[in-house]
Parts: sequence; structure tokens; C-alpha cells
Amino acid sequence: MRSYSLIAPAKINLYLEILGDRTDGYHELVMVLQSIDLADQIDLHPLSTDKIRVRCTHPQVPQDKSNLAVRAAELMAAQFPDAFAQYGGIEITIHKRIPVAAGLAGGSTNAAAVLVGLNLLWDLGLTQSELQELGARLGSDVPFCVVGGTAIATGRGDQLSPLLSLDHLHVVLGKYQSLTVSTPWAYQTYRQQFGSTYIRKPQDLASRAASVHSGPMVKAIIHQNGVEIGQLLHNDLEKIVLPAYPQVLQLRETIHQSGVLGAMMSGSGPTVFALCESLNQAQQVKAAVRSALPDPDLELWLAKFSSTGIQVASSV
Ligand code: C5P
Repeated sequence: MRSYSLIAPAKINLYLEILGDRTDGYHELVMVLQSIDLADQIDLHPLSTDKIRVRCTHPQVPQDKSNLAVRAAELMAAQFPDAFAQYGGIEITIHKRIPVAAGLAGGSTNAAAVLVGLNLLWDLGLTQSELQELGARLGSDVPFCVVGGTAIATGRGDQLSPLLSLDHLHVVLGKYQSLTVSTPWAYQTYRQQFGSTYIRKPQDLASRAASVHSGPMVKAIIHQNGVEIGQLLHNDLEKIVLPAYPQVLQLRETIHQSGVLGAMMSGSGPTVFALCESLNQAQQVKAAVRSALPDPDLELWLAKFSSTGIQVASSV
């Protein structure tokens, strides 16, 4: 039976607005999501037993059922028991390059790769939207990670409207290796501090989401205007994470002052990204941030916007 290697890209948020509460305990969001070419590689090898195993040498990646990639394989096995019985177990090897618990959807994109890969390996013939529906059961960012590119996400973050692909921009990403932020903590703290301002009426939620669809950020993306996109970057979770993590605030300010189109924290952080119009500018920004903040705990990466989600790298 075949083995597959898949490329699983990270995402950044160009826009993240928290609108209100949902009855399922999550938040009603409106976001603009963007894939970048910083990616993990996921290898899927069939096993002769009925086990689902994960291998990863990164110390922060769990090797048990708490790993979202394992949960994705278990979901597929439960949904398609005949295929699981026919093809047997699976070994998932994660080559981790995306920082963990960083606001870059690293776990979600690994899960999306397992869904896409098992669809191929087990010859299931599922459509992209069927894979996205399964992905939504695993996490709010998984449906986006399946398809990638540039998209508006509403609802829990799982209702997607694709936008014109924006693949000419570059980013510098910065993250303190020892710093991780819990996404549930960030959202719960936001609710404690700003819950009284939440939009309550369903029609008001819908009209706020619609106004973002026709608003300045989407127009700037349609016009491929990097300068405006940089000025319009927005993330409500910065109000929680930046005061709690002064190092992240300092990193954001240092990056912002280094002549970039814009700088912001991605998702619930703590990764901060700088938007740059060229690779040359990104390289200069990376060097400037490194010399301003020589702390060896600070990791910096260069990446480019990408128009793709999960891709098959090879199959043997
Ligand atoms: O969906 P996911 O597992 O990625 O979400 C992680 C956590 O982030 C949730 O448990 C919840 O606390 C918070 N969250 C939220 N509203 C969303 C998405 C995530 O409150 N729309």
C-alpha cells in the first residue's frame, strides 16, 4: 500500500475580531486568515496492525491521543470503519517546523493533513467540503487549513469565504521559544474583560460580519494593496495577551519600528509577524530585530504568503 508525504502550511490572522458568545461556548468571530509557506511535513505510513501511532521528535508535541493529528486519524477510522478494517492502522510522522502553541495553527494544519492524506490512502473520494466538515469537529481552524490561501472566516472560524489569493507578500515571524499561550485562556480572559460589550442579537452579529466582508481590509486584499493591509491589521486578542506578556509587546514594538508594512500578533499568540513587501525587506527586518533583541530564546523565521493549503509532496 502507498505512503504519502504531505505539506501542511501554517496560517496567520490578518484580522481577528471577537463579536460575541455562541451557544456552544465558543465565540462568534470574524477573521481574515492567510496561509504562509512555513510548513510541517506529515508522512503517513500504513501499518500491518490496527494501531494509530504518531512520531515526532519535537519535545512539545504530544505523542498520544491529545495530538490533534491522532484525533483526526481516529475520527476517520470511526467514520469509515470498513476502510480502516481493509487498510489497517497508520503511523503519522510529524516533521515539525511550525512553532508549537504559537497562534499559527500548527496542530490544526497537522490534523488537516491527516484528513487529506487518509482520504487518498483509503481511496475515500471525499470532496474538499466534506473534509472541511470533518475538520470542523476537530478544531475551528482545521477547515481553513485544508484549503488554505486567503479567506474570511466567520462563525466559530469554520465558515469560510475564499478571497483573491495574496501571495506576493512576505513575513518575518518572531516567537520566544520558551513562551506559549493557551488559546482557551486567551478567549476566556477576553470574555471576562469584554463580555459586557459583546453583540447579543443574531441580526446584529450577522450585520457586523457582513460589514467586514465589504469593509476596508477585504477591499485592500482585493486591490492587493500591501500598504493598506499593513495599516488595517487587527487582532482583539492582543488586548489580553500583550499586557500579560511584556516580552511579546516589546517584540511587537521592535518589529513595528523596523520599517515594515505592519506588525501584529497572530491568533492567540505569542507569535508576532511583520508584513513586508519583498524578501529583501524581510531579510533586513529580521537582521534589525535580531540585533535589537539578541536574546537566544527569540526565534525568527522568514516566510512568504501562500495560496495553498494541504499539498501532497510525494507518494510511494
Ligand atoms: O476550536 P479550537 O479547539 O481551536 O479552539 C480552542 C479554544 O479557543 C476553544 O476551546 C475556546 O476556548 C477558544 N475559542 C473560542 N471561540 C472560537 C474559537 C476558539 O472561544 N471561535
